[in-house]
Amino acid sequence: MKEERANFGSKIGMILATAGSAVGLGNIWRFPYMAGEHGGAAFILVYAACIALLGIPCMVAEFVVGRHGAANASRAYARIGGHKAWKAVGVMGVVTGFAIISYYTVVSGWCLQYVWAAAAGQLEGSPEAISAYFESFSKDPVRPAMWAVAFMLGTHFVIIHGVRGGIERASKLMMPALFALLLVVVAAACTLPGAGKGVEFLLKPDFSKIDGSVLLGALGQAFYSLSIGMGCICTYASYYSRQTDLVRSAVQISFLDTLVAILAGLVIFPAAFSVGISPDSGPSLTFITLPNVFQQAFSGSPAVWLIASVSFYVLLSLAAFTSLISLHEVCTAFISEELHMSRRKGAAVVTAAGCLLGVLCALSVAEPEWVAVAGMPLFDFFDFTTGQILLPLGGLLTCIVVGWWAPKAVVRDQFTNWGTVNRALYRSWIFLVGVVCPVLISAIFVNQLFMS
Ligand code: PHE
Repeated sequence: MKEERANFGSKIGMILATAGSAVGLGNIWRFPYMAGEHGGAAFILVYAACIALLGIPCMVAEFVVGRHGAANASRAYARIGGHKAWKAVGVMGVVTGFAIISYYTVVSGWCLQYVWAAAAGQLEGSPEAISAYFESFSKDPVRPAMWAVAFMLGTHFVIIHGVRGGIERASKLMMPALFALLLVVVAAACTLPGAGKGVEFLLKPDFSKIDGSVLLGALGQAFYSLSIGMGCICTYASYYSRQTDLVRSAVQISFLDTLVAILAGLVIFPAAFSVGISPDSGPSLTFITLPNVFQQAFSGSPAVWLIASVSFYVLLSLAAFTSLISLHEVCTAFISEELHMSRRKGAAVVTAAGCLLGVLCALSVAEPEWVAVAGMPLFDFFDFTTGQILLPLGGLLTCIVVGWWAPKAVVRDQFTNWGTVNRALYRSWIFLVGVVCPVLISAIFVNQLFMS
């Protein structure tokens, strides 16, 4: 007997859940510092091109795999590829999922700590004091690990309530809240004196900053930000209905995702320029530079300062939460379906493993020598290998299976909803997925090999 597969209850729920996966720390924590390091507007242009040429077509390809497979990522890849060997792509996705979960929970935990710190007025004092606060907190062997576990347990709670009652309901509550908070903080930052310079930095490109590493960075960021290349989008698409227009959904989700990233930039750069702080300080931008910037920028109005900084860290936590839910779901769907467990048991296995890995990653920040792989702290190792290698590789393999391997009729039926929509786009899309994307992704990989 075939069991009825769960699905999303409404179109808006489906878009918000998938956008919830896409919109995450990548948009608000990673995107601004990458843009800051790589010349602002120039990076954004390259990034937008990566989204349009690679991101959207690859997202549709993953939708095709997921909706056709109607199963967890590994089974879905095997079904569309028509051979068991393709399971490996799905399994690689699950492994990537665990690797991302482990450091993602740590950074999510930092965000929660900062909500509390901002509300309690602990993020003030000299720039050195603010930096020392982050140093002492992130290098504490206990507290970050506890926050990471707390985040994992919150995610567990949503996941065990299922696709509609858990994921969809949580996304419908959290995503609108996230947008509202973001608008509050953008308004506060863009009305600061001297904010115009920051807006200019985001809009006026300096092409001399574009080189191979920028291309690779933008590509990795596009995959990361859209949650592509690791079975996440594919797992969510397995809950889509036959009526879902895959192309339109991919465009809407990518638009929302890019909008949030640019709005996050519109908070950070205007505020940083208004107090004369350079926005290229790497990952610490959000946790060291920003509290300092907020303090100086809003020194005249403590109420606005409190509202802006608490809102910012709450929105960061919400964004992290919806992404973590999707990472958990990829692993839970895989474990429960492949090991024939109930959803609850599968989720418990994922939560337990996620907590363990999260604690190890948190420790690797506190004691970089103890928990290191390939000479890097575990935290950096997972961040680097997932963003720069595993996600683009997953994307490349997805393009190959959809563009070359899978039966054309199956792919065309999924893409056009059995001949009812987007028929005119099919040929261009299959050309992008089968030729342009694999060539570009491989070129960027080769370039990286020669450069390092
Ligand atoms: N897209 C998420 C972000 O921008 C990260 C993520 C990657 C989530 C892969 C799920 C899968 O933060």
